Amino acid sequence: MKEVQAYLKKNKKRHLDELIDLLKVPSVSADPAYKKDVAKTAKMIADFLKKAGAKKVEVCKTKGHPIVYGERIVDKKLPTVLVYGHYDVQPADPVELWDSPPFEPVIKKTKIHPQGAIFARGACDDKGQMFMHIKAFEAMVANDSLHCNVKFMIEGEEEVGSVNLNEFCKKNKKKLACDVVLVSDTGVISNKQPSITIGLRGLSYVEVEVTGPKKDLHSGLFGGAVANPINILSKMIASLQDKNNKIAIPGFYDDVLRVSKKDRTEMNKAPFSMAAYKRNLDVKDVHGEKGYTTLERASIRPTLDVNGIWGGYIGEGAKTVLPSKAYAKISMRLVPNQDPDKITKLFQKHFQSLAPKSVKVKVTPHHGGEPALTPTDTPEYKAAFLAMKQTYKKNPIPVRSGGSIPIVSLFEKVLGIKTVLMGFGLDSDDIHSPNEHYGLFNYYRGIETIPYFYEHYAALKSKK
Ligand code: BES
Ligand code: MN
Ligand code: MN
Repeated sequence: MKEVQAYLKKNKKRHLDELIDLLKVPSVSADPAYKKDVAKTAKMIADFLKKAGAKKVEVCKTKGHPIVYGERIVDKKLPTVLVYGHYDVQPADPVELWDSPPFEPVIKKTKIHPQGAIFARGACDDKGQMFMHIKAFEAMVANDSLHCNVKFMIEGEEEVGSVNLNEFCKKNKKKLACDVVLVSDTGVISNKQPSITIGLRGLSYVEVEVTGPKKDLHSGLFGGAVANPINILSKMIASLQDKNNKIAIPGFYDDVLRVSKKDRTEMNKAPFSMAAYKRNLDVKDVHGEKGYTTLERASIRPTLDVNGIWGGYIGEGAKTVLPSKAYAKISMRLVPNQDPDKITKLFQKHFQSLAPKSVKVKVTPHHGGEPALTPTDTPEYKAAFLAMKQTYKKNPIPVRSGGSIPIVSLFEKVLGIKTVLMGFGLDSDDIHSPNEHYGLFNYYRGIETIPYFYEHYAALKSKK
């Protein structure tokens, strides 16, 4: 392992330059205008995998963006790790809020990242984190220190719901056969306190359309006498949460798995500064479900949020209009054992029932995803624990995250395989936001830690 770490030290600059090249390509999966760039990025990943030592590399076509597959089978008797990551990124907008262009990476120092952070869309989510695995793999191969079989599955549609991954996994069960899935697409509590994610929320996402009169009207001539769909939609949305900020959809909480008092006490021991939290967000107070702490609200509790709302006149000046239509995009984060399809149906039924006769309501479901819990009594959790302990010189603690990675439950269902979420980002890295960045410390720490994971995993598996 010494040689691997020495090799990594020697190649630091190149490893960063290569990531920068990758970040320059705008692989935005949501926008068809970037289709070529997404394809180009897939090709780049395939080339990096080949160069790093993957024996078989394929860019697999799907109905959407390609999936990059690579493997190095060292010895059929050794355990096999499947590395999952995504090379697609969120759209960069609003671009005007970025301090530097989203696809022209720059390195800047920040308070949280005194050694510098790389600013670009995808820097943390997930190009930077995914690329750590290719670089760690390269170092292990170059130093003859890889004692596991490795498979890579790097997709290009995570940010749009991994719509074609299900079919790909079902069709390629043999190819993807493995003992564990290893993912770096989450974070740590801080650079001083490592953590391993053991839970993710699920997602139900709907779009609603409220229609009043068949066309826009003069708000003087008709206002007050005809339902204004924006007024009505606002009221309907407001009623979805009660005075304690609980979600007021009948049946919504029915399947929520209760978290024990002991577990809640434990999870609230994680380092958390309310003052810093508020300061970083520039809010005077936090907000959420009564009876739960901020950490709990953002991890073990389900939520409902309006992601966007529009309708009527939004141009310059004042136009007096009573609009015909109002729209909103609404997401619900779900926790174990809520079922996204069931929740979507409950929402649909309830939302329809809220509508007065004066308007028509349409609810259209978008992609969703299941919540996940990963066990801690497994060789993979232990291996991640020991690897992080070695590089951070501190025991990582298990945490449940508020984000969603729907493929985790898919891997369990289709491949029968558990996942270990060993991420290295920070919640303050502005993923999905303007000025997304990834600390150089985090990038290099990730690359250093991954080889130890393989070492411990191989050792633990051979003992079994
Ligand atoms: N990597 C994130 C999820 C994440 C980030 C989990 C940080 C935990 C900590 C992933 O790329 C993502 O953005 N997922 C989406 C869901 C998807 C269905 C679009 C999300 O959480 O909104
Ligand atoms: Mn991600
Ligand atoms: Mn994301």
